[in-house]
Amino acid sequence: MTRSTPPDDPAFAIDERHPPIRPRRVSFDWTKTPLHWVPGDPVATHIINSFHIVLPEGEKWFIQCVKDARPYIKDEKLLEEIKGFIGQEMVHARSHQGVLDQILATNGIDVSKITDAAGKGNADRPAQMAALKAKNPRAWRRRLRFELAAVASIEHYTAVLGQWIMDNRRLDEAGVDPTMLDLLRWHGAEEVEHRSVVFDVYQRFGGRYPMRVAAWVVSLFFLYWALIGGSLYLLKQDPQIKGRVTLPRVLIAYRRSVRKGHVPGIFKLLLGEAPVYLKPSHHPSQICSTPKALDYLLRSPAAQAAGYDPY
Ligand SMILES: [Fe+2]
Ligand SMILES: [Fe+2]
Repeated sequence: MTRSTPPDDPAFAIDERHPPIRPRRVSFDWTKTPLHWVPGDPVATHIINSFHIVLPEGEKWFIQCVKDARPYIKDEKLLEEIKGFIGQEMVHARSHQGVLDQILATNGIDVSKITDAAGKGNADRPAQMAALKAKNPRAWRRRLRFELAAVASIEHYTAVLGQWIMDNRRLDEAGVDPTMLDLLRWHGAEEVEHRSVVFDVYQRFGGRYPMRVAAWVVSLFFLYWALIGGSLYLLKQDPQIKGRVTLPRVLIAYRRSVRKGHVPGIFKLLLGEAPVYLKPSHHPSQICSTPKALDYLLRSPAAQAAGYDPY
């Protein structure tokens, strides 16, 4: 059953600051998805695929950071949102792992060197944090605060990109694989839904503006590195275009993909958010649209199949 909009009743009015956040237990069947799921555009395909590399372990790290701060949060509403956030990010991580295992690996593209290293970092982190907390609680708080600020910056971008992919009709016109488009839009919509959670956790954990700026700078470099490095890594392994990948060719193809609306202009998009995110009074509720996200989630084939109905 498709329902396009929430009931027009004040009881269902959406609180942009605190929308209800619950995971949708989605699953995806990748058997019909081709390697170049943006037809004829391997560069756009692999730029977006680079998110599939970083997100499974990245989102597990987000969860670790929020779980570490949770005992210090007293606000019942935020605690409820944290629960929803953790559930959503767990399903996101699992779903992107499915793309790595069932599309990239089956086409001979192996990213395990990167994901194994990230996985080891996540596996080692709890013991490192516990040792730091026992030895120097102030340093532990400082480190966790910085990590939360970095996650908050990345969550800003996942929400902005989520809104971009929900609003972008040119991907439908280009004939992008519908299962992949649904994964990206379902994930993007949930990112919009829970966009305030980590920012609020950071602030309740004593995070201040200067550290928010410093962590944003670090996150920006990380995102550029992950997107550019990840895309080139994937393009070089792609069996269908191997041997034809050179930097000038990739740059020309990238510009064409941006013009066609298959990918956002990442240089402009990431830096262009600086005046928004670095405004001292910024709060994530001021950006993106929860009604649009919920509207997509009511239409998403994967979310519908998962049987989720918030109303
Ligand atoms: Fe996510
Ligand atoms: Fe998120």
